[in-house]
Amino acid sequence: MHQQHDHSSLQTLLQQLAQSAAQPVQQACTMPPAAYTSEAFLSLEREAIFRAEWVCLGHAGQIAQPGDYFACELAGEPLLVIRGKEGQVQVLSNVCRHRANLIAQGTGNRQRLVCSYHAWSYDLGGRLLHAPLMEEAAARRTSRCDLPVFATELWQDFIFVNLDGQAAPLGPRLASFLPAIKNYDVLGRHHQFVGHEVWHTNWKCLVENFMEGYHLSAAHAKTLHAITPTALCRKIATPPGMTAYTAGYAPSVPERGPYPDALSPQERRYSVLFSVFPNLLVSVAPNVTLYLLVQPVDADQVAIKWGLTGTIADPQHPDVIRYRELCEDFNLEDRAQLEAVQQGLKSRHYHGGPLAPADFEGTVWDFHQYIAGRVLR
Ligand code: FES
Ligand SMILES: [Fe+2]
Repeated sequence: MHQQHDHSSLQTLLQQLAQSAAQPVQQACTMPPAAYTSEAFLSLEREAIFRAEWVCLGHAGQIAQPGDYFACELAGEPLLVIRGKEGQVQVLSNVCRHRANLIAQGTGNRQRLVCSYHAWSYDLGGRLLHAPLMEEAAARRTSRCDLPVFATELWQDFIFVNLDGQAAPLGPRLASFLPAIKNYDVLGRHHQFVGHEVWHTNWKCLVENFMEGYHLSAAHAKTLHAITPTALCRKIATPPGMTAYTAGYAPSVPERGPYPDALSPQERRYSVLFSVFPNLLVSVAPNVTLYLLVQPVDADQVAIKWGLTGTIADPQHPDVIRYRELCEDFNLEDRAQLEAVQQGLKSRHYHGGPLAPADFEGTVWDFHQYIAGRVLR
């Protein structure tokens, strides 16, 4: 009975989403509120998006040396992201082929992967090396006892995985966007910081919040308004599966260095904010890159991994610490808004709202189109 109810309300929600996404851009609006609160819709997103798309798991700077790894999860799948002996980044299943123990936790460096339960060992590529006292069963240790390796792609040092192995290559699809960030030399930056948080809001609220400049002057009156006021935001064209805008600096903001020589005078006066849907959010400033990776925990909670890379190598440099503290301040402001929004989305008397013009919320409209395109296929 309960399931049947869920099913019919999911069908209603999908119809509403199809209708809202089909509006002309002049009528751009939010997704239906239930898209942010329904667990049934989230199950659909897990299948149609998080298991089917290129999803970002981290930054290559987190695993700089051969054998460096971090364990993580995607759509309930335990994963191990590890740099192999030859320096290549790989994403392996973190589930032991013997009796399913998790092989590694947290972060670290290993030259071999040894399961703590019965000491099966694997090489860094996931090949089974040894199963103690099971030599006589060698015949059973076929390739099925190697750890599965998932499709992996590095793009601008961001590590992407595609769980179902069916997605078209990512790099070619994003190629036409590269000129917008080329002179910022994103690849040459040093990894400075990584942190983890869980916020009580739907994952899509965070994507939308990060990607729209409309809230900068109001919600960040004490922090970002003086640096990147709403009025100076400009949307930029992007290939499918992405959105982006530039956040211009107020005239009083001093130059943000050290920056790459290639940056034009104009490029020194704005940050480029972009999202590779579904889950990578990036802000590229002349001297620093802020990234957020988001994953749904449930409909009401999002897990966030966020980090910084920059032109300064020393993570303890006062400029690096000052910028991290600024990020922590405006993250708190965003968190307070988004946790309130999540309450508001459950109201029976809220039915979605209109979006501001393209420079300010056109990015939210792009995301609306993307989500509808994925879950309605
Ligand atoms: S579960 Fe890993 S060795 Fe048994
Ligand atoms: Fe914000």
